Amino acid sequence: MWEKPTPLAEIMKELDMALEKDHHFADGRVLGSMCTNPLDIAKDAHAMFIESNLGNAGLYPGTLDLEKQVINALSQLLHGDEKIAGGVVSGGTEANITALWIARNITKKKKIIFPESAHFSFHKACDILAMEPIMVPLNDDFTMDLDHVARNLDDDIAAVVGIAGTTELGAVDDIAGIADLLPDDVFLHVDAAFGGFVLPFLKELGYQVPDFDFSIPGVSTMAIDPHKMGMSTVPSGALLVRDRNWIKTTHKDAPYLDTVGQLSALSGTRCSAAVAASFAAMRSLGRTGYTQIVKECMDVTGHALKRARKLGLEPVIEPVMNILCLRVPEPEKIQKKLDGRGWKVSVAQNPPSLRLVIMPHVTIHSIDSLFDELDSLLGEV
Ligand SMILES: Cc1ncc(COP(=O)(O)O)c(C=O)c1O
Repeated sequence: MWEKPTPLAEIMKELDMALEKDHHFADGRVLGSMCTNPLDIAKDAHAMFIESNLGNAGLYPGTLDLEKQVINALSQLLHGDEKIAGGVVSGGTEANITALWIARNITKKKKIIFPESAHFSFHKACDILAMEPIMVPLNDDFTMDLDHVARNLDDDIAAVVGIAGTTELGAVDDIAGIADLLPDDVFLHVDAAFGGFVLPFLKELGYQVPDFDFSIPGVSTMAIDPHKMGMSTVPSGALLVRDRNWIKTTHKDAPYLDTVGQLSALSGTRCSAAVAASFAAMRSLGRTGYTQIVKECMDVTGHALKRARKLGLEPVIEPVMNILCLRVPEPEKIQKKLDGRGWKVSVAQNPPSLRLVIMPHVTIHSIDSLFDELDSLLGEV
């Protein structure tokens, strides 16, 4: 591939060919991803800050300042106070692992309770941190069964995890109920990687949204991803912690770098262009812009539900946010057939169903085309 230099025009051709093979959000046919086409201003900011690396923050005081502003704005969105600290990380996985790393280091305990609906990053966290997972079954509405949590609380629990927007269904656990169960020394981590940029805006729109954030005193840490519904570029997640002293517990001395005072997550060198992109997206849209985007996603989700019902398909739950899981016969077969026709949808495992994530790039028009295809496919399976 690289024995000798290749002319730039040839390289561009190769890149174009690879890009052509990829699926693109702009086509409106990707309904299985929790990411979307970032705002243009976010892409521009990403390109401007392409060499920035907050793994060596001393070189990038300007980017560091943007990170502080992003974290402060997210903290305000999630009802945090001035003691909240955190950092921009590569995504929900890194935020979740780092949250449990902090909980383990502070409590010196080794069990984690999380619902069966939790993202697989919590299993990774248990593996890496040598912690023991205790998985809790779900209620009929696919939220975590709190009686089961209560029964499993013992002296070796470091943290309990609640999900504000589950990956498969978008269900929201009873975070306040979990907090009520926990002794002061057990951490409560809320994974709002997806829901963090949805639920506050649903509330603005008048939807009934239970408290799920730092407004609940027992919430210790939260994950929220700008690269999902935050309209920013990949890789952009964030971890917020209730007490800024906690971030010292993962700190490792790196005398050759200048990183003092920052959240120490898993990455060393990190893509900080996404920090600038998140800043730009949030400044550009403002809370009103996000409210409008969430409204549009919910309108399209409502339209998809109507089209589904016309075909006699029922949702697993009434959509809480912009995720619609449909009970269909043999979801994997249908997914494969749709794939063959250029549609990228996913399949939920619990319960088996066809999962549509209605991100901002999904329009009423794409939903209509998808359901026209589904209509003809359903007869075939
Ligand atoms: C609720 C939730 N948490 C965490 C993650 C992991 O995020 P990432 O893929 O950005 O690491 C996801 C991904 O879909 C998610 O839905």
